[in-house]
Amino acid sequence: MDYKAYFLEVKNWFEKIKLYTQSKRYDYEELEDSLKRMDFFINSIKEDEITENETISLQTLVKDINELLREGEKIEENSRQMVIPIGQHNLPPLPYNYNALEPHISNEIMKLHHDKHHQSYVDGLNRAEKMMQKARETNDFSMLKHWEREASFHGSGHYLHTLFWESMCPKGGGEPKGALMRQINRDFGNYNAFKKHFSEAAKQVEGSGWAILVWSPRPRRLEILQSEKHNNLTQWDTIPLLPLDVWEHAYYLQYKNNRGEYVDKWWNIVKWPAVEDRFGKAQKLQWKPV
Ligand SMILES: [Fe+2]
Repeated sequence: MDYKAYFLEVKNWFEKIKLYTQSKRYDYEELEDSLKRMDFFINSIKEDEITENETISLQTLVKDINELLREGEKIEENSRQMVIPIGQHNLPPLPYNYNALEPHISNEIMKLHHDKHHQSYVDGLNRAEKMMQKARETNDFSMLKHWEREASFHGSGHYLHTLFWESMCPKGGGEPKGALMRQINRDFGNYNAFKKHFSEAAKQVEGSGWAILVWSPRPRRLEILQSEKHNNLTQWDTIPLLPLDVWEHAYYLQYKNNRGEYVDKWWNIVKWPAVEDRFGKAQKLQWKPV
């Protein structure tokens, strides 16, 4: 094997790889390290005196970089797939049957609530996003205030309902465990105080809306908020963890005007492990405290 020829070939290849990875802006530590190692190695080799050992090390580095690049491509592809293009939100299927939450929430409510109401938020959000895109393209922002409001209302409606379905399950209820329970105790005193506060917040929502347990990353505390409609009174800095829908469409067919009974029964279908999981992920976000 001509070591010098191989070295020159690698050197040439590496120049192209450097340009390629710069254009990609990989945020990928391992690849960065290997590229730095290769850079250092190539600069330290004297091409006329290259040894067999140095050639073997070069081959290993080339192999490592190729593997890491393939992995980087895969990560990029995955994150591309996770992007929802403008106006292309979909109604997520219910994670259980329409009748799964009976007797606490009836089959009829779930079918209407999911298939009609939630679908209309998805459609409304898609339409608002497309109209705002059109405004940017045509430079006509005369209706922007309207579409911004639509995007906020339907967007919040879509995202909160998605969380709401995930936060419930048949044979749910009980109490949360682990880090979430410790945080509830820390921030509300104990579970019963939290539950009472949350239930009261839900019962006292003025008109249509939600009660929502949120994680507030800046003070690093749990908080309970009400949201009138879907989007009023929102605290934009927070991450919703556990939402309770108290729009009439969520209970009226079954509970009539007795929202309180609906709220009290609802605790039997809370899926705490889903909330614990969201809490764990939300906690990884760290806002700078101010
Ligand atoms: Fe709803």
